[in-house]
Amino acid sequence: MFVCSCNAYRDSQIAEAARNGARTACEAYEALGNGPNCGGCLETADRIVEQVHAARTASHAAFKSAAD
Ligand code: FES
Repeated sequence: MFVCSCNAYRDSQIAEAARNGARTACEAYEALGNGPNCGGCLETADRIVEQVHAARTASHAAFKSAAD
């Protein structure tokens, strides 16, 4: 699904940038090559980044819990 029509960024690309370390939509966009233009997509893109990090945090917590 396209999230950013200015840059033709898909949700999967934004999520991948987040998995590679981007902490915000703007960081994800910079990692993908172009920063935001109109900004109309940033709320949705930030949610995607937050979901990736929340899933990662939950995964780490489950791993730590299993290891304890
Ligand atoms: S729709 Fe993403 S910057 Fe315009």
